[in-house]
Amino acid sequence: PAGGRVFSGIQPTGVPHLGNYLGALENWVALQNQYPSVLYSIVDMHSITQPQDPNQLRSNILDMAASLLACGIDPERAILFQQSQWVFLSTYITGNFCAQPTLKVSEHAELSWILGCLTSMARLRHLPQWKMKSKLKSEGSVGLYTYPVLQAADILLYKRGSQRSLESLAKQKHYYKQEMPRMSAHVPVGEDQVQHLELVQDLARIFNNRYGDLFPEPYALLSSTRKVKSLRDPTVKMSKSDPQTMATIAITDSPDAIALKIRRAVTDFTSEVTFDPDTRPGVSNLVTIHAAMARISVEEAVYQARGLDTGTYKKLVTEAVIQRLTPIREEIERLRSEPSHLEAVLVQGTRRARELAAPVLRESRVGTVT
Ligand code: ADP
Ligand code: NA
Repeated sequence: PAGGRVFSGIQPTGVPHLGNYLGALENWVALQNQYPSVLYSIVDMHSITQPQDPNQLRSNILDMAASLLACGIDPERAILFQQSQWVFLSTYITGNFCAQPTLKVSEHAELSWILGCLTSMARLRHLPQWKMKSKLKSEGSVGLYTYPVLQAADILLYKRGSQRSLESLAKQKHYYKQEMPRMSAHVPVGEDQVQHLELVQDLARIFNNRYGDLFPEPYALLSSTRKVKSLRDPTVKMSKSDPQTMATIAITDSPDAIALKIRRAVTDFTSEVTFDPDTRPGVSNLVTIHAAMARISVEEAVYQARGLDTGTYKKLVTEAVIQRLTPIREEIERLRSEPSHLEAVLVQGTRRARELAAPVLRESRVGTVT
């Protein structure tokens, strides 16, 4: 891993919940300290694959930025950026291949088009997200259907080995055929995303076969298998699309709200605390949450629960959750009151991301559309 790069994205669908935090964001914070080059994108172009209120989306983007920073993403260690954002870059004016400073199509959208032209309809039809989300509506959009291709563009744009100057790229048309780039980004994925990453790997191969070796295949970094379950139905995962507000703990929930939700959490009729996700999913979910929030092992959590009935144990779990989430909630509140600071962080991140992505897009255009 040393020397590698990591890329991951998250949709700006509002404040993250405990599942997002323990299943993804906590890992993101760890990765920024392990890898020298890390990019995290707020993928707003993915959000518009389904109906959105633009004002709500704008505020969700800032909320997600505030949440990521409050959870510990450090813009000095990780490039934090908004996928669709356009910023004026001086390199575009000085670069001799592009006289116009008004490049408004983002690299992500443009590479997505090129990759989409290499993707068969059949390849996308069987991906789990399409099957699941298109079932909810009578008809899903083309964007929803092809969004795994956009995801492929998101990842492939940040392959390494393209930090040459834009000017030298303009002079050497087919240099990448002689000089295979060394490394792609590693992508932390949950199990639900594995098939999408396989599509990214396929598209890298298809592109390379047709146009010359450009994209190394990205590797999956399988993130922790820690899954947080719904507090109301512990057989399904905690999800922000769950209509039951009592099922999900948002990382901005007040101590009172946290206490109430955990008090109401579904358990079973055995009062003793044990960890057995298959036969006792409710109690086991509380143990998972307790262990993760108190940064102890599951065994240690069960040990601390010895002699307690589930009602009393819930108070212990509540304490652990409140302790971890309080500073995060306070920081999010502080950051929300400074939207211009959040925007500045995102603009700075976009600038840095674009410096990496623009040469790769330029390379991918050579031999395809230019
Ligand atoms: P949601 O299911 O709430 O819509 P997303 O699909 O946007 O969440 O997931 C964002 C990230 O959070 C992904 O990396 C996903 O694996 C992780 N994640 C979502 N829900 C959970 C959960 N209940 N437990 C663990 N990780 C989760
Ligand atoms: Na989801």
